Amino acid sequence: MDEPRSCCGNEEDEDVSRGDVRNFYSKAAVSAQESLCCPTQYDSKDLSHIPKEVLEISYGCGSPVGRANLCEGEVMVDLGSGGGIDCFIAARHVGKTGRVYGIDMTEEMLGVARKNATLVAENLGYNNIEFRQGYLESIPVDDSSVDLVTSNCVINLSTDKDEVFREIHRILKPGGRFMISDIISNKEVPEAMQNNKELWGECVSGALTLNKFLGYAEKNRFKGLRVQKDYLWKEVEGIKFYSYTIEGCKHVSSGSKSCCSSLLATYAGPFESVTFQETVYPMGIAVEINEDTAQLLSSHSYAGQFIITNPTTEKPAEPESPCCG
Ligand SMILES: C[S@@+](CC[C@H](N)C(=O)[O-])C[C@H]1O[C@@H](n2cnc3c(N)ncnc32)[C@H](O)[C@@H]1O
Repeated sequence: MDEPRSCCGNEEDEDVSRGDVRNFYSKAAVSAQESLCCPTQYDSKDLSHIPKEVLEISYGCGSPVGRANLCEGEVMVDLGSGGGIDCFIAARHVGKTGRVYGIDMTEEMLGVARKNATLVAENLGYNNIEFRQGYLESIPVDDSSVDLVTSNCVINLSTDKDEVFREIHRILKPGGRFMISDIISNKEVPEAMQNNKELWGECVSGALTLNKFLGYAEKNRFKGLRVQKDYLWKEVEGIKFYSYTIEGCKHVSSGSKSCCSSLLATYAGPFESVTFQETVYPMGIAVEINEDTAQLLSSHSYAGQFIITNPTTEKPAEPESPCCG
């Protein structure tokens, strides 16, 4: 496919629809599209059971499953699963007792994914994957039934991102989490460029700024948001497009296993107390904090000043590896 064409001043451009995106990916399912391939690195150990056909039409921009710290027995949903690469990686991590669902609207992508699911099941010796046809904005999965939602270079393609985050929140169990790799722009994409169907299909002009992305997540009640900026993918019309991986969790106040369960920080001294982000930490007294604060207080800048503990395990907390480890 050619380089993205200039977006502006094209009289024929109209609003992008899901139909346009589907047409784009029907073709991308049957012949690999070079311009869609971001320089994504998967752990080679994760790919040994996956057929070549799937790898050839992998259009992700990150490796969300590789970072998700999945456990045996967990349930995962991958949104916009395409040829199935992230589902197939996850199928091995969650094992026989886990379950993986891939959701995609494009018949041809589902065809490739389902055909290869049989081969993956043979390679693994068990079958724990199901591909369902459906939309990100109306996910065909029950409420509160999922431990992890992933998505790899797909949310930028949705024309209703608020609805996508609402749906992710609906299907996650309390304490469940999302790990999303996506394209993020350094400036808002102008309307003329957003109406360019080709650029939208290529994961460029539907991209959000980081603020907007986090805004949708916060509006839909996600907590513990963490952001990893990976690489600059391309620059179009003076706007820079980066690959990011962003995680967050559906908060739960107590009881259930949670990625964002409350943690405790104890200030070790030497002062009587210190104030950090408007909270007072008296020396030697445990103060409840969230994951974000735990991560900050565990960083190099505060090394040795705070002891972070998890009251559910009473062991020093490891905020870098939420949930399973
Ligand atoms: C860029 S590809 C990424 C595919 C896959 N995640 C991967 O890493 O190879 C985007 C995929 O999302 C699907 N898709 C885009 N918008 C969608 C929507 N609103 N609902 C469901 N699927 C969608 C497309 O059909 C396509 O398979």
